Amino acid sequence: MRRIAIVVGAVSFTVMAGGGTALAEPSLHPSERISASPVSAENPSPERPLVAVAHRGASGHAPENTLAAIEAAGRLGAETVEVDVQLTSDGEPVLMHDTSLERTTDIEEVHPDLDSYDVGDLTLEQIEQVEAGSWFDPVFEGEPVPTLSDALDTLESLDLNLFLEVKDPEVHPGIEETLAEELSSRDHWMEQNPAWEPRRLVVESFDWESMEASKELLPSIPHGLLGEVPEDELGDYEWAHMVNPSHDGLTGDYVEAVHEAGYEIMPYTINEQDRMVELLELGVDGFVTDYPDVGQDAIAEFEGDQETEPVQEPEELADQLPADEPEAEPAAD
Ligand code: G3P
Ligand code: CA
Repeated sequence: MRRIAIVVGAVSFTVMAGGGTALAEPSLHPSERISASPVSAENPSPERPLVAVAHRGASGHAPENTLAAIEAAGRLGAETVEVDVQLTSDGEPVLMHDTSLERTTDIEEVHPDLDSYDVGDLTLEQIEQVEAGSWFDPVFEGEPVPTLSDALDTLESLDLNLFLEVKDPEVHPGIEETLAEELSSRDHWMEQNPAWEPRRLVVESFDWESMEASKELLPSIPHGLLGEVPEDELGDYEWAHMVNPSHDGLTGDYVEAVHEAGYEIMPYTINEQDRMVELLELGVDGFVTDYPDVGQDAIAEFEGDQETEPVQEPEELADQLPADEPEAEPAAD
């Protein structure tokens, strides 16, 4: 397994009393910016733990991008939740994956006369009148479309980490500034977890220019590039921490190249335990799944397999040599 290399001392992070949070990481090239858990005799090469990120909340169990899905993720033991964020026409960040609200809300019934059901064409007040739960299951009827602020409150109360995906920033001008303002107004999200815990906050997007702009506004926050960065361009994004591609067709060589370039890699979206384990065997640092409970099982299976790999003693290896193998004669002078 290839994971991010560790160079303790290359990074001047500070752990606060009580083992709580560490100060923001300095802006180093990813290859110099190291994950590290406490170094000890038992753990000489520490690294961040593997993470099963709950996709749009635990969206296999509850309606995506709702507080119910975030709460389900917490109940199922997830440590980190991914959600999608967009801006309403009056500039409020809300959780929504699709450009339009039609698939996941009752907006067509609530606002039958509107020309557009796109997030960016609706005010927060209009969006607050719809519900985003019953399309998934009647038991979730009445679940609102959350504001980012509501989602952050819930994540904080459940002590969950966040992968915040900025969706379609090209149709939401100024979204980077709005998100930076919201996040930086909350000390909780500006503080990093200790380097041996999962990252507290990663801002990510398929729009890499938007991420570069966001990184300038939030320099202490790790940023991720969604999609597959071509191998010959991996050196071009030294400000980013992660490259998170689709798992389809992902190869061990690509995982290694991403690591060699100094990024972490957590592919999306994997729901079968066997495939999760395959990806962990390729060396990924985690993955995104609709079923964080299955994801935790996959990580446990992978780590259990690693722990129980038989270690052969030299004598056992010698026993396996052919009995009639003649000993090599010393070479004649
Ligand atoms: O975590 C990445 C993943 O969420 C990207 O795909 O379409 O589900 O937003 P999508
Ligand atoms: Ca997403």
